Amino acid sequence: MPGTAVKPPFQRLGVNIDHVATIRNARGGRHPDPLRAAHLAVEAGADGITAHLREDRRHISDHDIARLKSELTRPLNLEMAATEEMLDIALRHVPNACCLVPERREERTTEGGLNVTDGSEQLVRVIGDLKSAGIRVSLFIEPDPRSIEASARLGADIVELHTGAYCEKALSDDAAGTAREIERMTSAARLAAEAGLEVHAGHGLTFNTVAPIARLPEVVELNIGHFLIGEAIFGGLSSAVKRMRVLMDEARAGARPERERMRTA
Ligand code: PXP
Repeated sequence: MPGTAVKPPFQRLGVNIDHVATIRNARGGRHPDPLRAAHLAVEAGADGITAHLREDRRHISDHDIARLKSELTRPLNLEMAATEEMLDIALRHVPNACCLVPERREERTTEGGLNVTDGSEQLVRVIGDLKSAGIRVSLFIEPDPRSIEASARLGADIVELHTGAYCEKALSDDAAGTAREIERMTSAARLAAEAGLEVHAGHGLTFNTVAPIARLPEVVELNIGHFLIGEAIFGGLSSAVKRMRVLMDEARAGARPERERMRTA
């Protein structure tokens, strides 16, 4: 019908609880417990929980994954490198989804998207084995056409578009760079959806940077961790998750961001 706005699909919020484990591991022991944080995030509105089991186990442990899988009431998205060790763990626990990420020991966080264009046999095998076990496969990639086309060819169910470059430009107040990165995300999300892929996004998102990404109609899930856990220090995890949920919903509904409203009120 002319003039009828099409409502974009609901956008899920996946809360990444890795850095609860970072704080726990700083002292050893059991406190703070990532599973308790996961339950709290779900109560506050998280639609899923994400955890990255790294090769060096710097935050999430194997035991955390086992507990999350057996006790969570929402889907678990396991982030992992495409290695034999991680494949075995995923096949043992069968999370709802596995997000394959690049991993380098010396990096502080996942620095770039996965290289999906060089035809790695290992990647093909891991994707095939996960899918055969009924696990949805997501590839964490840069928002560029070659990576999207390669992800579709590899048979991924989902691509998670890396928002790191966009967040970096936005947080350094580079308006032209930010606009370029939003444009890149906009085209990538559209292209991925046209290729039949489910589209997720994440990395580095904050209250101030979430709206332009939440607004992209093809993006049906955001995965957010470090900022929410950091904010939890000041106002609690529940309040941080609830506020992120509101900002996502407002952006999705086309509402003006709250900050803008406050400025003009
Ligand atoms: N998505 C993926 C694939 C990631 O590797 C990470 C970081 O672990 C995130 C989302 C969340 O990023 P952040 O912790 O910066 O919100």
